[in-house]
Amino acid sequence: MARPVTTIEDLRVIAKRRVPKMFYDYADSGAWTESTYRANQADFAAIKLRQRVAVDMRDRTLATTIAGQPASMPVALAPTGLTGMQHADGEILAARAAEKAGVPFCLSTMSICSIEDVAEHATKPFWFQLYVMRDREFSSSLIARAKAAGCSALVLTVDLQILGQRHKDIVNGMTAPPKLTVKNILDMAIRPRWSLGMLGTQRRTFRNLVGHAKGVSNLSSLSSWTAEQFDPALSWDDVKRIRDEWGGTLILKGILDPEDAEKAAETGADSIVVSNHGGRQLDGAVSSISALPDIVSAVGNRIEVLMDGGVRSGQDVLKAVALGAKGVMIGRAFLYGLGADGEAGVTKCLDIIRKELDVTMALCGHRDIRNVGREILVPGTLPS
Ligand code: FNR
Repeated sequence: MARPVTTIEDLRVIAKRRVPKMFYDYADSGAWTESTYRANQADFAAIKLRQRVAVDMRDRTLATTIAGQPASMPVALAPTGLTGMQHADGEILAARAAEKAGVPFCLSTMSICSIEDVAEHATKPFWFQLYVMRDREFSSSLIARAKAAGCSALVLTVDLQILGQRHKDIVNGMTAPPKLTVKNILDMAIRPRWSLGMLGTQRRTFRNLVGHAKGVSNLSSLSSWTAEQFDPALSWDDVKRIRDEWGGTLILKGILDPEDAEKAAETGADSIVVSNHGGRQLDGAVSSISALPDIVSAVGNRIEVLMDGGVRSGQDVLKAVALGAKGVMIGRAFLYGLGADGEAGVTKCLDIIRKELDVTMALCGHRDIRNVGREILVPGTLPS
């Protein structure tokens, strides 16, 4: 009998077996030496919780709001590129699992399934993530499509003006479409559950971009066109322009420094996400959880603060909330679930996190997630 899945780490181990190496590594890697990627998790682990007893632990609730929208717990699925490479139709499956769990799902600009594909299968509004592109018309067309699909928030990612290098992707030939070397083909052939899925994936490759990118006739030119599209000249004025163009709930993702947080708060955005892109951009940057307290004290009374990076358990969620985050986004945790078992795997991931969060909150002496604060943390163990 298969061993029961009880942790996100269990899902990761299964995903590693099931997903072709180049796609598994694409998800499970960071930039350069991966020091920031590792710090994201290690710094969470260093924070200790205060155990409390003899407090009434009945009738607990994890329900909250994120960016003004109801969520059954303070968790949202982060935008992740090429999610449909972890499992065919991955974006649709993840959106469905998020809906059923009552948490927001955010579709990446760099998704395999398009905005319309997800809208067709979703029954609730989802969020759309935008990269600021050199081609303004193209960005505008994505904003218009997100509006037409009824997306309930725009997540504008500001930490990817240029791409951080991930060594594993280069070694694996991780491009779109993937480099079909003998090694890669053999690797895909030994993953039977995934090969079937690949058919679906090819049907839908980069559908947000196909047909919209100028002068692009095939997938490899699409891939290089896209890489060149990230705008290295991005400014706060661009952010304000996009805020006006979108006109709805705006979340700025990729803030790691209190000075940038101040500027982000001035844009009139609804929320910011303290994030280092999961350690995939500036290697050597501080972990997200250690950046969180200073950012909360700088702008927490003016703008809602969210965070992501390194969240692998409900305990991590609780620690982030205790340090002032209204909610967290999870990236790899749900990708492992997706790679392990499609929609059921994402559901499993969210169930695991919910259960861990609920029990940990109770054992720290709280019944309502909205009342959790720093008092549950052991002071000497907090990030300085
Ligand atoms: C990402 N991330 C990301 N962010 C974004 O704004 N747009 C994107 O297209 C992507 N793509 C992407 C792909 C993959 C495979 C990963 C792992 C991450 C970053 C993501 O939204 C989030 O910030 C991190 O994943 C959070 O860290 P954890 O939860 O993965 O540790």
